Amino acid sequence: MISISMADYEIYLESNIIYHLPEHLKKIYQGRGLFVITDRHVYDLYHLKLAHILSEYQVQFVVIEPGEKSKSFEAYRNVIDTLIEKGIKRTDLILAFGGGVVGDLAGFVASTLYRGIPYVQIPTTLLAQVDSSIGGKVGIDLPTGKNLIGAFYQPKLVIIDPELLLTLSEREYHNGLAEMIKAGLIGDKKLYQYLLTHERVRETEIASAIQVKREVVLSDPYDHGDRMKLNFGHTFGHAIEKKHHYETYLHGEAISYGMLIALEIGIMMNETKPELFDEVKALLLERKLIKEPLLAKEDYKDHIIHDKKMTAEGLKFIVVPKPGEAKIVILKPEDLL
Ligand SMILES: NC(=O)c1ccc[n+]([C@@H]2O[C@H](COP(=O)([O-])OP(=O)(O)OC[C@H]3O[C@@H](n4cnc5c(N)ncnc54)[C@H](O)[C@@H]3O)[C@@H](O)[C@H]2O)c1
Repeated sequence: MISISMADYEIYLESNIIYHLPEHLKKIYQGRGLFVITDRHVYDLYHLKLAHILSEYQVQFVVIEPGEKSKSFEAYRNVIDTLIEKGIKRTDLILAFGGGVVGDLAGFVASTLYRGIPYVQIPTTLLAQVDSSIGGKVGIDLPTGKNLIGAFYQPKLVIIDPELLLTLSEREYHNGLAEMIKAGLIGDKKLYQYLLTHERVRETEIASAIQVKREVVLSDPYDHGDRMKLNFGHTFGHAIEKKHHYETYLHGEAISYGMLIALEIGIMMNETKPELFDEVKALLLERKLIKEPLLAKEDYKDHIIHDKKMTAEGLKFIVVPKPGEAKIVILKPEDLL
C-alpha cells in the first residue's frame, strides 16, 4: 500500500483497498453510522459491493444525479434534508464515494451541516483520484459561475482504489489523464515521460500525480500564491468551458487546449522550448483530448481580459519552460492581441 501524508490526514492508495475499508476507517472513526453520498451511476455499479464490505456498520446511502448540475444549491439542500431525515448525527461519518462532483458536494455538505461532520473521500474517477479529492477544496456552483460557494475542509482520510477505474468510460478516463499530464508538466518530468508512451496508468503514476499536488498544496494550503501553479492550462481551460456552457468539453479536454495555448504563450515569451508544444500536442491528440483544428486563443481572449483576476498590470499566468518546471509570468491584455 502507498501511504501519502497530508498536513492532517493520510491518503492510502492500493488496488482493491476498498475490500479493506473497515480496517482503515477504524483508524479514524469508532462509531457505527455511515452515510455514503454517491451518484446514481456509481451507486448502480457499486452499492451492493460496498454494502457487503461495510456490513458491520449501519450504512445509509444518499444518491444524487450524476453530473455537474448536482453541484447546485438545490442538490445541496436535498442532500442536507435527506441526511437529516435519515437521522444523521454530528458524530457520524460521511463517505464521499464518487467523482469530483460527489466529492465537492459531499465535502461541502460535511463542512456546513451541524458546523462540520467528519468525512472520508473515496474517489472513483481518475480526475478525482489525482486531483479533486486532494487539497480540501469543497463547494458548489452558482448559475453565474463554477465553484463560487465553498470552503476549505479537509477529509479525515482519502482511500484510492485504482480498480474502481475499470468501469470508467474511455472519455472520462482520458479526462483524468489530462490532469496527470498537467501534473507531470508542472512538477514531475518522469511522470510526464511515462505518460508520453503509456495510456494506462498504475498506482505509481497516480501516486506521482498526487505528490505534485501535495507539494503545491502543502506550500500554499489556502491558495494565496504557489498553488496557482496547478492552474497551468486552466486560465484558457476555464474560458473554453464557460464559453461553451460547460457542455461541449469535459474539464480535461478544455484544459488540454488550455495547456497548448499556455505553451504557445510561453514560446512567445521566450520561456518555453518550441519542441515541447509539438510533443504535448501529439500526446493530447493520441489520447483524444483535443481535435484539429485546435481552439485558438484569440477566440477566448475576451473572457481572459474580463477575468476577475486581471489587473492593470496584467494577469498572473503559468508557463512551463520545460517538463517538470512551472513558472509564474504576467500576461498583459496586449499579449493576447
Ligand atoms: N475540489 C477540487 O480541488 C477540484 C479539483 C478538480 C476538479 N474538481 C471538480 O470535480 C468535478 C469533476 O469531477 P469528475 O471529472 O470526477 O466528474 P464527475 O464526478 O461528474 O464524474 C464523471 C462521470 O463518471 C461517472 N463515474 C464516476 N465514477 C465512476 C466509475 N468508477 N465507473 C463508472 N462511472 C463512474 C459519474 O457518474 C459521472 O457520470 C467538477 O465539478 C470540478 O469542479 C474539484
